[in-house]
Amino acid sequence: MTGTLEGRVALVTGGRGGAGRAVCRRFVDEGAHVYAAGLSDDDDGVEGEPPAGEFLRFDVTSEDEVIAGIAAIESARGRLDIVVNAAGIEIEKTVEDTSLEEWDRIFAINVTGTFLTSKHALPMLRRSDHASIVNFGSYDGFIADPKLAAYCATKGAVHALTRAMACDHGREGIRVNAICPGYIDTPMLEQFYPDGVDPADALAEAERVHPLGTIGTPTDMANLVHWLVSDEARYATGQLWVLDGGISAQVQQMRF
Ligand SMILES: NC(=O)c1ccc[n+]([C@@H]2O[C@H](COP(=O)([O-])OP(=O)(O)OC[C@H]3O[C@@H](n4cnc5c(N)ncnc54)[C@H](O)[C@@H]3O)[C@@H](O)[C@H]2O)c1
Repeated sequence: MTGTLEGRVALVTGGRGGAGRAVCRRFVDEGAHVYAAGLSDDDDGVEGEPPAGEFLRFDVTSEDEVIAGIAAIESARGRLDIVVNAAGIEIEKTVEDTSLEEWDRIFAINVTGTFLTSKHALPMLRRSDHASIVNFGSYDGFIADPKLAAYCATKGAVHALTRAMACDHGREGIRVNAICPGYIDTPMLEQFYPDGVDPADALAEAERVHPLGTIGTPTDMANLVHWLVSDEARYATGQLWVLDGGISAQVQQMRF
């Protein structure tokens, strides 16, 4: 690693999850002081990858908790340069099967959480010379997987919010981008595999439909997030960066 983030302070929500954990690890390795925000400091179902960064407990749906968490960073470090909004959930249902409570919950975490964390981080980000926000969209914000109706809607909202924030805050020196992963090997993806199907068979089928013949890893996401927050990406803002092994580039072929 090359110390690209030396001296910077980063906040990663969902920082103990599959993607967030890899992002925290990469940022720490690059010299940043990292706050991994989440609901609990346990393993969150992520196997094999030790946690990185200082745990900060807050629920992204609670404005009071978000304000308190960001205030704690300000009093401890006096600065914040990077925000990664990686907290998220998935609900595997059609619109018809989704209750209003589930709809409200997924929007509260995936969309409102991104809004609240970004909103309250902005005053400190304005004071940084390297300010960058990375939101977690999804290729599901462009195209739909079956039975992910509410999830797809939240990711479309995150994409629109990303562009709007980039336009509003570009002149303040704050870049805002979204990464839009496809199939990435995290606890969230395992949950997506159909009930009753052997996970090994589900994985083989997922790999088959990808032009690269493989699904992604949390490290793949962390590599893109790292580039987006680095000075090399100084001219990149307001964009939706798809990272999906080419699956959304391809019309699915029939199996003969
Ligand atoms: N894994 C994939 O294939 C994939 C693909 C596209 C997009 N994404 C997106 O990547 C992001 C990270 O997903 P992941 O795969 O790491 O999932 P994950 O389930 O491993 O991690 C999500 C994290 O969010 C945290 N979280 C949930 N509700 C929260 C709340 N109210 N407050 C604070 N934290 C909360 C969870 O505790 C968990 O640590 C999500 O936004 C997801 O939609 C994932």
